[in-house]
Formats: sequence, structure tokens, C-alpha cells
Amino acid sequence: MTFDAHPRSSLIVALDFDSLSAALRFAQKISDLVGMFKIGSQLFSSAGPEAVKQIAALGNSIFLDLKFHDIPNTVAGAVLSSAAMPGVQLVNVHALGGTAMLEAAVQAVSAGVPMGADRTRLIAVTILTSMDNKAMREAGIAGTPLSQAVKLARLAKTCGVDGVVASVQEAKAIRKACGRDFLIVTPGVRPAEKSAGKKKDDQARTATPAQAIKAGADYIVVGRPIIAAEDPRAAAQAVVDEIASAK
Ligand code: C5P
Repeated sequence: MTFDAHPRSSLIVALDFDSLSAALRFAQKISDLVGMFKIGSQLFSSAGPEAVKQIAALGNSIFLDLKFHDIPNTVAGAVLSSAAMPGVQLVNVHALGGTAMLEAAVQAVSAGVPMGADRTRLIAVTILTSMDNKAMREAGIAGTPLSQAVKLARLAKTCGVDGVVASVQEAKAIRKACGRDFLIVTPGVRPAEKSAGKKKDDQARTATPAQAIKAGADYIVVGRPIIAAEDPRAAAQAVVDEIASAK
């Protein structure tokens, strides 16, 4: 993967729209200000691979955030098809799928790529940023989000996965446990002026863009603070400025 040094390359904007026309109209407005666009289950469920094709045509790379979690054979097929779509630079699975599933996904993401060629990177979701201690206990997951996220990041790394999705609160410990080359993508990011206990939406573990970069994130994912902003260009630029100030 090629990193350009500009701070905007660390910003991934989540296109959580339910129609491709709305997503495309929005993406066109801010495509020059951001690094990647994230297409998640909401947009993909309504518009499918056509969404990837049309958004990628704007020139930005795509994070296809479909968080696969199934038996190894099914996940391998899904990862293979995802990586073959135009412009897809990041795809992901749930680390909770376990070793066999993660290894199958790792093999699939490298399949069909000529030696030395740039390839799609595979990342694993650790613990959803919408979950807190109580939600973990209710779901029967032991430990804290921090201890589990670090454990799952180590597992993903052992299986050959390129990195993880985790909250900013876990980024530092994951960086320490998994090393500099392991990718860390952090959602649950809320710009400085919106933090201070204000708009967290359904995210339980939030932090500012500057905190995310300082904690070691390679990429930050921002959705509603930009897509629901009155002035999305100003909101995106403010996040990029905050990233720049933290680098
Ligand atoms: O609107 P908001 O900034 O909260 O959007 C965050 C985006 O990141 C959503 O698209 C969500 O699906 C995604 N995401 C997340 N937590 C994860 C993985 C992905 O919030 N662990």
C-alpha cells in the first residue's frame, strides 16, 4: 500500500447512506479533501458492487467494511470477491471468527495477486466501538474492551492479518503489542469541538482525531460528524487540520 504523506490520507469517511445516488452526490463534494471512502453494510446492502465501482471512479481508495464473520470457506470466498472489486484497499473480518477463519481470509486476500504487486490489505475488527463493559458482559465476552481488543489483535497478527479496527482507547496498547507495521484503523472518532460529552451517537468509546493519531492510529474513520454536518467540506477540513496538528 502506498502512503502519501498528506494528513488527508489518514482520513476515511464512512458513506453510511442508504442509496447510491445520495452517497455519490455527497462523496463528490468532499473527494479532494479525504483519503478513502468507507462503504459499509448499509450502502452495500442497497447498492452492492455498483457502489464500489462508482465511488472508486472518483479516484479515492475504498475501505469495504463488510465485517465478515462466518465459516472459513464462506469468508474466504467473500474476501476474494471483495478484494477483486475496483479500488478496494482495505477489507475486513471479525477477529472473533477465530484462527481458521482468519487464516482462510489471509490466504484469500493474497490469492490472484502477482508477486510484488500492491494488494488489498485485510484488517480484523476487534471489539465494536459501540460496545462497553456492560455490553461485553451481556454478550458473554470476558474481560474489558481493552484486554479483549489487545488479545484479538495479537491473534489476528499471528494469523497473518495486516491490522485491526479498534477504538482509540486500545490503539496504544495494540501498537505496543503488535509493532509499527501493523495497521490500526480507529472509528468512534468525534472532532474536538463536538467531544466534551456532546455528540457520541451510538458510539460508546470515542476520542478526537488528534487523540487517535497520537495513540498510533494509521487511519481514522469518521461518519456522522462529516456526513451530517451543515458544511461537510468545512467539517472534513477541520478533521484533516486536527490530524495535521497531531502528526
Ligand atoms: O458515524 P460514525 O463516525 O459513528 O461512523 C463510524 C463508522 O465506522 C460506521 O460506518 C461504523 O459501521 C464503522 N465502524 C465502527 N466500529 C467498528 C468498526 C466499524 O463504528 N468497530
